[in-house]
Amino acid sequence: MNNEELIRLAFEARERAYAPYSHWKVGAALLTRDGKIYQGCNIENSGFTATNCAERTAFFKAIYEGVYDFAKIAIVGGDEQKGVEGYCFPCGVCRQVMSEFCNPDDFRVLIAKSPEEYVDYPLRELIPGCNFVAMNDGYGFVGGKQ
Ligand code: THU
Repeated sequence: MNNEELIRLAFEARERAYAPYSHWKVGAALLTRDGKIYQGCNIENSGFTATNCAERTAFFKAIYEGVYDFAKIAIVGGDEQKGVEGYCFPCGVCRQVMSEFCNPDDFRVLIAKSPEEYVDYPLRELIPGCNFVAMNDGYGFVGGKQ
């Protein structure tokens, strides 16, 4: 699975966004190290804080299935009318969730405008100092074991 293909899957996921309040639709495609894909979209709520971002939807689907071994995530976001015009960076809560389950130096975050135009960061650059708790080995507690 190359970056371009992963970004296309994020665009596909964006179609599922439930965003009647912000009208900002986001899609994510999370790739595991053994090639599985988990797609996610944002799911909003009239009590705004109950909203779930696309990235966390993708992660939580994987974690529920017992999958903990992640390689990269592609993210696309933009206005429902205008489409994806710029780079939609993950929010702080999503960065924190990524830091729980991903090695900050290996895991890559691709933020895309199109399958060809994207930026590619190691997680550590998006959440400096994220080993602060140091409760896992950088890959999460594998399989949920502690
Ligand atoms: N959102 C995401 O799903 N991911 C991001 O990376 C940024 C923001 C969602 C949350 C909310 O539903 C909407 O986009 C506007 O902030």
